[in-house]
Amino acid sequence: MRVIIQENYEKMSRWAAEHIAKAINSHKEARPFVLGLPTGSSPLGVYKKLIEMNKAGKVSFKNVVTFNMDEYVGLDHDHDQSYWYFMHDNFFNHIDLPAQNINMLNGMAKDPEKECRDYEKKIAAMGGIDLFMGGIGVDGHIAFNEPFTSLSSRTGLRTLTTDTRIVNSRFFGNDPSKVPAYALSVGVGTVFDSKEVLVLINGHNKARALAHTVEGGVSQKWTCSALQMHNNAIIACDEDACGELKVDTYRYFKDVEKAERL
Ligand code: GLP
Repeated sequence: MRVIIQENYEKMSRWAAEHIAKAINSHKEARPFVLGLPTGSSPLGVYKKLIEMNKAGKVSFKNVVTFNMDEYVGLDHDHDQSYWYFMHDNFFNHIDLPAQNINMLNGMAKDPEKECRDYEKKIAAMGGIDLFMGGIGVDGHIAFNEPFTSLSSRTGLRTLTTDTRIVNSRFFGNDPSKVPAYALSVGVGTVFDSKEVLVLINGHNKARALAHTVEGGVSQKWTCSALQMHNNAIIACDEDACGELKVDTYRYFKDVEKAERL
């Protein structure tokens, strides 16, 4: 696992955006580059930077297919807190990604199980995901894989924990009861089948989760810890998120990344 420690959120976002652009630009196969994407506040800086790079002609999304991680159950596309709305508003509407290349789980699907099975099939039909970018919750959940979700889980219906509904209530008038109780989400296994996983972890409130991801044992209590089993995983984080790391862990990753740049 690589841990890229950047001074602040802005630099972390720039590093991650440049890494994604490089991966897309160096993709030489005829089939499209398949990119997995998250919502949340963590990736906003990356989306902003990728939009700038797209407008400046430094990266194009014309040969990219995207799969989003998750969607709330019961919110339609027009709901300003649906992840569909979020992705279009913050990213898709501003880049040259063809609309037909966008894949998102439909939280209004009449048959959620079929919706999830079909999503897995579609990912497989595209040849799998080349790079999955993610964020994590303060309890270490990746996508909506809350604590104690199986580390080999596939796309399916998830029940949100009270903790997550409280944290996410900041987008629902600070009322946790207004946050949907269920979501459709890719599984931990779905994310970790990707050729590369890039997880953004920033801010003091994620410090405990970062320590568990990097230094803790692999455990379904912290679903992000499954990253330790992936052979091409990168965490991009800021200094604020490093507060709970042991000093020698922090120094180790700083040293290794310095050495790699020589
Ligand atoms: C939600 C999403 C996750 C995201 C998490 C953290 O629960 N389902 O994919 O990683 O929020 O969000 P933020 O980046 O706003 O802290």
